Amino acid sequence: MSVNFDRVAPFYDRLAQWVFGDSIRASQAYFLKEIRQGSRVLILGGGTGNILLDLDQLARKMQVTYLESSGEMLRLSREKLPFKFLSVRFIQGTEKNIPSGEFDVVITAFFLDVFDESKLPEIMETLYDHLANGGIWLQTDFTRTRVPWQRLLVKGMYLFFRVFTNLPGKKLLDFSWRFSQFNLTMKAYHHFFSNMIMTVVYEKDAGR
Ligand SMILES: C[S@@+](CC[C@H](N)C(=O)[O-])C[C@H]1O[C@@H](n2cnc3c(N)ncnc32)[C@H](O)[C@@H]1O
Repeated sequence: MSVNFDRVAPFYDRLAQWVFGDSIRASQAYFLKEIRQGSRVLILGGGTGNILLDLDQLARKMQVTYLESSGEMLRLSREKLPFKFLSVRFIQGTEKNIPSGEFDVVITAFFLDVFDESKLPEIMETLYDHLANGGIWLQTDFTRTRVPWQRLLVKGMYLFFRVFTNLPGKKLLDFSWRFSQFNLTMKAYHHFFSNMIMTVVYEKDAGR
């Protein structure tokens, strides 16, 4: 059985707000301002679609390809229509269903943490290949810390999502190290929620 967020979709935002306050939404919105007018944007696992509202707030025209594997999450995302500046192509699917072509921006927010070590490299490789040279990858996720209450919270989250969504990931992986294996330059980063959440702007170097 593969991962399925349908069951948690109706209360996902409320739960995130209850546990993390505004940090989940604010962290992934933080670097959206780096996206230029006219960009082709790829969003993977966008959840209930709040990120589309935050993107539209920038008042810059963009073509967004929005991939969600959960039908329920996608339905909630579509409810955010209409947008003033975004043109959005909603697709129910996974990284395997990314339309051919390159994107100026890839956005992964609390998405890579879904996967385990066996699947993550392949997914990151696929997304990297779809990113144009000079394009940016906005990555937001939990980070590994040594703080006991944070480690406990992460453990609890993985347990919760394994039960309710059949999440394959079992522990938080070292995303920064994995990004460093690609031809990407870290341009900026910012922490949220007592350093437990990190949002990063990576730029794809020309030549690969
Ligand atoms: C932890 S949630 C994060 C949602 C949202 N990005 C946020 O920050 O609130 C992960 C999302 O990824 C979706 N998802 C899981 N595996 C996927 C895949 N292979 N391709 C596309 N979406 C996927 C889930 O349905 C879920 O909505």
